[in-house]
Amino acid sequence: MDILIYSPDGKTAAYETGLAEHLPQANIRGWQPGDTAPADYLVLWKPNAEVLQPREGLKAIFNLGAGVDGVLGPHGDGVQRLPAGVPLVRLEDAGMADQMAQYVSAATLRYFRRLDEFEAQQAQRQWKFQKPNRLADFPVAVLGYGTLGAHVARALKTFGFAVRAWSRSERHDDSGIALHHGEAGFDACVSGARVLVNLLPLTPQTVDILDANLFARLAHGAFLINVARGAHLVEADLLTALDSGQIAGATLDVFRTEPLPPDHPFWRAPRVSITPHISALTLRDETVAQIAGKIAALARGEAITGIVDLARGY
Ligand code: NAP
Ligand code: GLV
Repeated sequence: MDILIYSPDGKTAAYETGLAEHLPQANIRGWQPGDTAPADYLVLWKPNAEVLQPREGLKAIFNLGAGVDGVLGPHGDGVQRLPAGVPLVRLEDAGMADQMAQYVSAATLRYFRRLDEFEAQQAQRQWKFQKPNRLADFPVAVLGYGTLGAHVARALKTFGFAVRAWSRSERHDDSGIALHHGEAGFDACVSGARVLVNLLPLTPQTVDILDANLFARLAHGAFLINVARGAHLVEADLLTALDSGQIAGATLDVFRTEPLPPDHPFWRAPRVSITPHISALTLRDETVAQIAGKIAALARGEAITGIVDLARGY
């Protein structure tokens, strides 16, 4: 079996070694410009058009992340670049759900416990009491109740937050999270929320969803935590909402342009906290184990999970 690995920075050696440990019989190679040779499996992140050219024998394409917008594009038109009939498989958790729960819990608790305000006071050498927030005044809305969103929502619930979540299709469970779905359920999920967490995939339906219209539905002085994709956020609308106080603070891990350009206004916005797309990293050992397990299952003729529905875009 031939496995071809592509990374935009050309650094594929660690994945080659990792996959070889799980699949010792496989011929594994990193992609080089001009490589149009047959491959049974492609393992990639943000591919160029050349690597996606139809390839003899190709059985599946594995995306080295949960979000497939780097393959399909924010408007879904990248689907035309994919070889017809070859399944695109995304990462499912692979150690990202725990990382995401840690990151979002830390950001939510920082706002709830007013640590952002105490940090600002410390910079002024100010010793000043701040009235504690009440859980009852801090409903949290999580957009996306999939692999990551559901795990994050449950983690937040353990701290006593009233958590609501939003998905495309109807979901039921016994988590105690208020579940909403579809366009009809959007308002009930976000209205009056004090913290808004975005964990949606980037699709034509969700691009620009974090906009002035949504911010206006939140509680005054709400907090935004965007850990999904930069193109979900209308950046100018966030800056306006921060100016008006409608949004009191934002924790942003993802941006329309990454790395965030040095002259971007977010760097200077005092109530914007920035991290460089690290909220849930692709962990190599877990990722390699998951992909190798699925390749082995496909080779045995078994069904696998995590196949992207190209019509839905995630
Ligand atoms: P997932 O399992 O596919 O979950 C996606 C969730 O979003 C599902 O609940 C889905 O609804 C919902 N959804 C999709 N389109 C919707 C729409 N139009 N309206 C309402 N709900 C919609 O994905 P995941 O593994 O949790 O990952 C989510 C995203 O996180 C990824 O796509 C990626 O962009 C981002 N991410 C970021 C990082 C980082 O480091 N910053 C790391 C990993 C992932 P259904 O349940 O009905 O399908
Ligand atoms: C990272 O952003 C991912 O989609 O896995």
